[in-house]
Amino acid sequence: MIQSRYALAMVVLLGGGLGTIGVDGQVLWPLQTYKSSPATMPFLNVTKQGQTEQGFLFFSPVDIIRGAGYPAIYSDDGQLVWQGQNQTTFAMQPQIFDGEPAVTYWNGTVGFGFGFGQITIIDNTYQSIYNVTLSCKEHNFVTVFDPEPLASCIDVHESQLTDNGTLLVTAVNITQADLSSVGGPVDGWVQDGLVYEIDVKTNKVLFRWSAAEHLAEVPISYAIAPLGSEGAGSGNKTDPYGYAHLNSIAKYGENYLLSSRFMCSVFLLAPNGSVIWHLHGRTGGDFHLDLGTSFCYQHDVRIIAATPERVTISMHNNDNTEFTGATYVTTGLILDLAMQGNKTVSLAGRVWDAAEPVYVQSQGSYQSLSNGHVLMGHGAVPKIEEFDANGAIVMRARFGYDNTMQSYRAYRYPWVGHPSTVPDVAACLSAATGDTTVYISWNGATDVVSWNVPVRRRIDGR
Ligand SMILES: *[C@@H]1O[C@H](CO)[C@@H](O)[C@H](O)[C@H]1NC(C)=O
Ligand SMILES: *[C@@H]1O[C@H](CO)[C@@H](O)[C@H](O)[C@H]1NC(C)=O
Ligand SMILES: *[C@@H]1O[C@H](CO)[C@@H](O)[C@H](O)[C@H]1NC(C)=O
Ligand SMILES: *[C@@H]1O[C@H](CO)[C@@H](O)[C@H](O)[C@H]1NC(C)=O
Ligand SMILES: *[C@@H]1O[C@H](CO)[C@@H](O)[C@H](O)[C@H]1NC(C)=O
Ligand SMILES: *[C@@H]1O[C@H](CO)[C@@H](O)[C@H](O)[C@H]1NC(C)=O
Ligand SMILES: *[C@@H]1O[C@H](CO)[C@@H](O)[C@H](O)[C@H]1NC(C)=O
Ligand SMILES: *[C@@H]1O[C@H](CO)[C@@H](O)[C@H](O)[C@H]1NC(C)=O
Ligand SMILES: *[C@@H]1O[C@H](CO)[C@@H](O)[C@H](O)[C@H]1NC(C)=O
Repeated sequence: MIQSRYALAMVVLLGGGLGTIGVDGQVLWPLQTYKSSPATMPFLNVTKQGQTEQGFLFFSPVDIIRGAGYPAIYSDDGQLVWQGQNQTTFAMQPQIFDGEPAVTYWNGTVGFGFGFGQITIIDNTYQSIYNVTLSCKEHNFVTVFDPEPLASCIDVHESQLTDNGTLLVTAVNITQADLSSVGGPVDGWVQDGLVYEIDVKTNKVLFRWSAAEHLAEVPISYAIAPLGSEGAGSGNKTDPYGYAHLNSIAKYGENYLLSSRFMCSVFLLAPNGSVIWHLHGRTGGDFHLDLGTSFCYQHDVRIIAATPERVTISMHNNDNTEFTGATYVTTGLILDLAMQGNKTVSLAGRVWDAAEPVYVQSQGSYQSLSNGHVLMGHGAVPKIEEFDANGAIVMRARFGYDNTMQSYRAYRYPWVGHPSTVPDVAACLSAATGDTTVYISWNGATDVVSWNVPVRRRIDGR
């Protein structure tokens, strides 16, 4: 007699397990749970309005209410593909390292709008291949803690790899500066905004830039975030003014493109640290702002095309903060900067979902995809959007209610995952029918088509 029967229970695509959606009270966003795995991850509600580009969705949902955060990969049908460790994760980004696909992400201690931690680089087996750190002690960092308990002082905002095997990150140091231009004391306290380029394999610093060491070119008066506003700091030692709040850095040729959120500014830096040009989102800086090109409190600024005459940049323009309210609709902005003549900034593109506008107050990302598509992550508004080349919305993907779930950034990227772990299996015997159902999932596997579970018979009394 057959006491239990093992049979092909299900076909698992993309490594995602069997998900049941359980609503945990009124305000809690439903989580996906699995019979085969203890993983609990936010349900991703994907609706499509058109053709999207290829690839998986990479983001790091943080459940603010239930207190958990993970680097994660999802497929477009809302299935979880990979869940990393439960930890405070920022700046997760799929990229190429040493010619191979890799994922970078920050983990560490966060607070006050910045953090102190490290960048982990994993390969497509989900094993850590490099830990990039910036020793707080060795590099003489002053943090908000006394005595200094932290090992590594890399900030949350960036983890950008270059073709040269280096990593670009931001960092925050607490120091003193003259705040009289913004109505503060001459010996006020500030969060200095720093940029580092670090060689991944040797952890050696190749480039360092400090905003506070360039006050002649980057004066504190550029800041739009007022002294004493929530998150910007009051300028005393325990509440330093975060006037620069650097939130993206990328390298083009030898130069560095830097975004300062609280200065509403974009800077191009030369290798010697001098400012080649400055674009201010309210006043123009070195440029003249044409109609519709104003921006502020922006995120994720990148150069998408450049000639000697014209540089085109993209950004996530939230133009809102925790202290200004949510007045302005969040858009993806493409600006053409004329490098010669009248140095006019003209509007080259703007994407936003007019039917369901987003008004986000912190975080966000803008990714240029193939065929002119754009992917935006909206930070504190837990929503990912894709637009086509005409600016029409083609995908909305929500993973939480506003301000209860967040992901600093989001990306779409092609990916083949070959986990170094084994699949997770659970078998449930039904007392009523004597049938056994087998549940299988494999964290991070992308090319599973089906599972073949052989049927074994056991004879009573053997
Ligand atoms: C997913 O979002 C759509 C569009 O907002 C909504 O109509 C639908 O009810 C949502 N699905 C679930 C299961 O929440
Ligand atoms: C995730 O980690 C946080 C902080 O350590 C902890 O409070 C929480 O219970 C963890 N959540 C899960 C689901 O493991
Ligand atoms: C980051 O995560 C690693 C485990 O991957 C852990 O060992 C390390 O302590 C974490 N770093 C910080 C700064 O939290
Ligand atoms: C990175 O740090 C984690 C946690 O400390 C460790 O498990 C892992 O082996 C490290 N990776 C490398 C490549 O050293
Ligand atoms: C941080 O600021 C202190 C005080 O001004 C200074 O001594 C130290 O060198 C700075 N550290 C870094 C990493 O810039
Ligand atoms: C610093 O500023 C914060 C916020 O305004 C305030 O709570 C704190 O008491 C101030 N500390 C000192 C030493 O003045
Ligand atoms: C990459 O490294 C090479 C050799 O060290 C150097 O000449 C080149 O300038 C680097 N490129 C960038 C973009 O840093
Ligand atoms: C720094 O580099 C810029 C751009 O190449 C150059 O114009 C400037 O003179 C340099 N400054 C110094 C102090 O060397
Ligand atoms: C700036 O120059 C461009 C190209 O020469 C021209 O099209 C534009 O009208 C000028 N704008 C202003 C404000 O002068």
